Amino acid sequence: TKASLTIDPAFAIADVDPRLFGSFVEHLGRCVYTGIYEPGHPAADENGFRRDVLDLVRELGVTVVRYPGGNFVSGYRWEDGVGPDRPTRLDSAWRSIEPNTFGLGEFIKWTRAAGVEPMMAVNLGTRGVQEAIDLLEYANHPSGTHWSDLRRKHGDAEPYDIRLWCLGNEMDGPWQLGHKTADEYGRLAAETARAMRMIDRRLELVACGSSGATMPTFGTWEATVLKHAYDVVDYVSLHAYYEPIDGDVATFLASGDRMEAFIADTVATCDHMRAVTRSTKRINLSFDEWNVWYMRKFQAQESTLEWRHAPPLLEDHYDVTDAVVVGSLLIALLRHADRVRVACQAQLVNVIAPIFAEPGGPAWRQTIFHPFAQASRYGRGRVLRVEPQTPVYECAAGEVGLLHATAVQAEDGTVTLFAVNRSQTDALELAANVRALGDGVRVLEHTVLTDEDLGARNSAAEPDRVRPRPVTGTGIDTGTLHASLPPVSWNVIRLG
Ligand code: AHR
Repeated sequence: TKASLTIDPAFAIADVDPRLFGSFVEHLGRCVYTGIYEPGHPAADENGFRRDVLDLVRELGVTVVRYPGGNFVSGYRWEDGVGPDRPTRLDSAWRSIEPNTFGLGEFIKWTRAAGVEPMMAVNLGTRGVQEAIDLLEYANHPSGTHWSDLRRKHGDAEPYDIRLWCLGNEMDGPWQLGHKTADEYGRLAAETARAMRMIDRRLELVACGSSGATMPTFGTWEATVLKHAYDVVDYVSLHAYYEPIDGDVATFLASGDRMEAFIADTVATCDHMRAVTRSTKRINLSFDEWNVWYMRKFQAQESTLEWRHAPPLLEDHYDVTDAVVVGSLLIALLRHADRVRVACQAQLVNVIAPIFAEPGGPAWRQTIFHPFAQASRYGRGRVLRVEPQTPVYECAAGEVGLLHATAVQAEDGTVTLFAVNRSQTDALELAANVRALGDGVRVLEHTVLTDEDLGARNSAAEPDRVRPRPVTGTGIDTGTLHASLPPVSWNVIRLG
C-alpha cells in the first residue's frame, strides 16, 4: 500500500502556540492526592510534591496545566483551599471526600516547580461573578485589599499572575452541577468576563463550548453563548474523548478525523458569529480536554461509588493502539494550529493519564506518554500543509485515510514529519517529496511506536515495554523520502 505527500516550507498553516501541549490536573481520583502530591512519599519534596512525577512532567514537555476541574470546579469553593483552615467537603461530582489540603497556593507552587503556566477555572455552576472576581483579586492583585492581603498573609507576597482563565466547565452538560441553558450560561459568562477584565486587563478568557460533538446542543450552544459573549472572550472550549466501541478498532483509529471535523465545525460556528456580531476580532479554540478514555467502563461502575478520599477513578491502562490514536489526535491538533491555540490532554497523572504513579511506589510512563512527549519536543515551530495522498477505508466515521500526517518546521530549519498508519494489516510505503528542503537534507532519525502485540501495555514491572524505537532503512533519494510505516504505528521522522 502506498501513500505520498509533499513537504514544502512555502506552504505553512501557522506557528504553533506552545500551549497546544497543555495538560489538566483535576481534583479527581488520584490525580492530585497520591498523583502530583503525596507528602510522606519517599520522592516527595518539602511541599509534598512527588519529585519522580515532576521529572516525568518535565520530560513530557507540558507547557500549561488547567486546574482545578473539570466537573469538580462546578461545586468548588476556592476559599476552602487557601490559608490554615481547610474544611473537609463532599465533592458530589466524583462522590469523593475532599480534604482541601491541596489548593490554589499549592497548585501555583507546583506549576513553578514543574515549569508550566497555570490555567485556572472559575466555578460558574454553583457560584457566580462575585466569587470569580474575589478569586481573581486573591490571585492577581498585588496588595492593599482584603483578598490580596489575605494571599500575602498566607505566605505569598507576589501575585500569581494567572492570565488564562476558563469561565466554568462543561456548562452544556446535564451532569454538570449548575448546568445551564446556552442563554443562561452565555449571559453569566459575559458578565463574569466583563467583571474579571475590570480587575485585570491582561486576561485571556475561555468560554465553555460543547462537551462533545455529539451533544444535542452542539453548534447552537456555541452560537448562543457567543451572541452574548463574543466581545469579551478570547476562546471557545472543546472537549472530546475517544474509545473503541464494541471492539470497532477501525473507527477508533479514525478518532483524529473526528477531532478535525469537530474543530472545523466549531471554527465555522465562531466565524459565523463573527459575521453576525460584525466583529473584527476572531475567536480561537481551547481544546482543553482531549484524550482516549474508556468512559463506558467508568459509567458502568459510577452508581456503585462510595464516598472516599482519593479513590482510584478513571485509571485507564493504555495499550499500543491507544498510543497510536493519541498520536493521531496530536496530529489533528497540529493540523489546526491556526485556530487551536490552547489544548490540554486530560489528565496528567493517574486519571486517564500519560503518567502513572503508584501510591508510595514508583511513577512510570504509560504508552500514550510517548507520542505527547515527541510532539511537544519536535512539534514546536511552523506547521506545514502536507496534503497527504492516501488510500482510504470505510468505517463508522465515514471514509478515512490510512495515512494521517502533519509536518512541523523548527526555528533551526529541521523538519519533523508525524505520521500514523491506520491500516491494521499492511505497512504503508510512504514517498514524500522533500525537494523544497534542499539537496543537503538528510534523515536524522525515524522512530516508530508499534508492537506485534497491539494490546501491550507498560506497568511498574515493565515500564518501558512500549516505547518509540529507532528504525533503519528510511532515506532520501533524489528529493524523495522513502519510509515504511508498519500497521497501526506512530512515526516520527526528523529531517535536517
Ligand atoms: O476529565 C474527566 C471529566 O471529563 C472532567 O471532569 C469533565 O470536565 C469531563 O466530562
